[in-house]
Amino acid sequence: MDRKLPNLKVMRHPLIQEKLTGIRDRRTGVREFRALLSEMAALMAYEITADFPVREIEVETPLAATTGAELARGVTLVPIIRAGLGMLEGIMRLVPQARVGHVGLYRDEDTLEPVEYYWKMPQDVAETDIIVIDPMLATGGSCSAAVSKLAEAGVQRVKVLCLVASPEGVGRMLEDHPLVTVYAAALDDRLDDRGYILPGLGDAGDRIYGTT
Ligand code: PRP
Ligand code: URA
Repeated sequence: MDRKLPNLKVMRHPLIQEKLTGIRDRRTGVREFRALLSEMAALMAYEITADFPVREIEVETPLAATTGAELARGVTLVPIIRAGLGMLEGIMRLVPQARVGHVGLYRDEDTLEPVEYYWKMPQDVAETDIIVIDPMLATGGSCSAAVSKLAEAGVQRVKVLCLVASPEGVGRMLEDHPLVTVYAAALDDRLDDRGYILPGLGDAGDRIYGTT
């Protein structure tokens, strides 16, 4: 944990780091980028859910009854469209019972402020554990806006899952939402003058969907 950013947890698992390296590589094409992103998302979901509470349930094996476990609360995955969708399928493979709440946000290219165009949450979202999903935490404006709106909906348990975070973005989250932990595969150096993360991976949405 970074001492100045107590809200950040960097996942240093070797498989996560190896896949991140492939994702950063400018030579990685759309097909491999999507596959790596999905695999990374699943590995990261495994780690981020490690402290989710479970309750005991009875299960009968072919031979005897025994005690098993199930998640004690519902889970809502909240991808920020577009790029967050690239991580969704990998996480849903691990948590297939999760609901999905979609947030449509894009960054205004001049102001770098988030512009909202879509919002659809499950009705009982406030009772669930939330994972906000977006590969990039740059200025932090988009993520902070999504978490603010979730808080207005009564949500209390939120984690943020991204691939690459900037110090500026994590700092912004600490200021706006000090109780929310950000999980990332890397804390990069800084933002460039267009608000892109350095070294980063470029424009995540463009690389997932093959747009430029
Ligand atoms: C990217 C990314 C985040 C946002 C991060 O989305 O997926 O949502 O930028 O930047 P911020 O931390 O400075 O807000 P973008 O706005 O490019 O939209 P897109 O996914 O639809 O391309
Ligand atoms: N959005 C991206 O897709 N990449 C960045 O580096 C910053 C914002």
